[in-house]
Amino acid sequence: MTALDQQLGAELDALRDARTYKRFLTLQSRQGAVVQMEGRGEVIVLSSNNYLGLAGHPEVVRAGIEGLERYGAGTASVRFICGTFEPHLALERALADLSGTEAALTYVSCWNANEACIPSLTDETTVILTDELNHASLIDAIRLSRPASKVIYPHSDMAALREGLEAAPRGSRKLVVTDGVFSMEGDLAKLPEIVELAREHDAVVVVDDSHGVGVLGETGRGTVEHFGLLGEVDVITGTLGKALGGAAGGYVAASEEVCDVLAQRSRPQLFSNALPPTVACSALRSIELMLEQPELLRRLRENIRVFRELLADAGYAPLDGEAAIVPIIVGQTAEAMALSARLLDEGVFVTGFGFPVVPEGTARVRVQMSAALEQEHLDRAIDAFRRVRPE
Ligand SMILES: Cc1ncc(COP(=O)(O)O)c(C=O)c1O
Repeated sequence: MTALDQQLGAELDALRDARTYKRFLTLQSRQGAVVQMEGRGEVIVLSSNNYLGLAGHPEVVRAGIEGLERYGAGTASVRFICGTFEPHLALERALADLSGTEAALTYVSCWNANEACIPSLTDETTVILTDELNHASLIDAIRLSRPASKVIYPHSDMAALREGLEAAPRGSRKLVVTDGVFSMEGDLAKLPEIVELAREHDAVVVVDDSHGVGVLGETGRGTVEHFGLLGEVDVITGTLGKALGGAAGGYVAASEEVCDVLAQRSRPQLFSNALPPTVACSALRSIELMLEQPELLRRLRENIRVFRELLADAGYAPLDGEAAIVPIIVGQTAEAMALSARLLDEGVFVTGFGFPVVPEGTARVRVQMSAALEQEHLDRAIDAFRRVRPE
């Protein structure tokens, strides 16, 4: 064993001792309301981002198979070197329409999209203003951007954002970067105020709406639609790995100029393979299904409402919110992991999160609702929550 292995082994032992070591659980069926889990049998899924239940939808699967048959496994290269498939363009058109922007550009993940977008929009004058609870991909993207300065404002603190904007040097480029739905809290960015402040100060708004699209807004267009701001947000990034099919992939939706600059300059676009056509085809079908079948969104929203009520009746007090994320704070990381393990013993799959994903002392189990869940699943799940409720 090398010295490095020994050091890393000690770090892993420390995680095990603290009972915060994460294990991968193996699924033997499609993602859905229930899955077959190796060694466990059937479990109810309350921790996937499969918000609209489309990950295993027959038409989404069929679209992927047709894409695979027609276009093969992939571009075998970067798009500018070796071609773009038709489904990339069709998907990007659909994503732009969905986002209320002129254009969109896809990446192999939203992590990549964020790491592509923010550094490409940052010049030597840029001040980046970022919510302290933004997703890790935005945090890393901002680190990579090396802006002239950075203001990390307290969560959704609009006075602090205003102060940061006022303090930015004259003539500097200003980017206000926020999650649409905060992934660990489930609350929404104060987008109307953010957009207004940005207008006052001539700043650019960048919203990562990975947890908003396919959940919020009358037609599922996300946080931006929820607040009636379609067409008012400069740059929207999102994932194809959650509501929109659940495979993987991400995008930036913005003006023609922004998307073209990203195509020309962003490193994850220039130095990494294109989204596989299977994914492009299944994501496109997912968008179509969401727009064609509004009952998917209705069912998701009804499930969110009903499960929040059931949790309250069972003595739990999740954080408030309108999105599909329902976090139940339990305190210490080991407690969250233990609650999640007890729920799994009861046949309910819901993940516990602790430090460093969330601040020390605010560990939680994060319930996520899906349109795939039927009342029977919610009832069985809540029975399990009742049985394991900590004192
Ligand atoms: C807010 C947010 N942004 C970006 C990502 C990354 O998305 P992807 O899995 O497409 O890289 C996630 C996924 O967890 C997320 O929650």
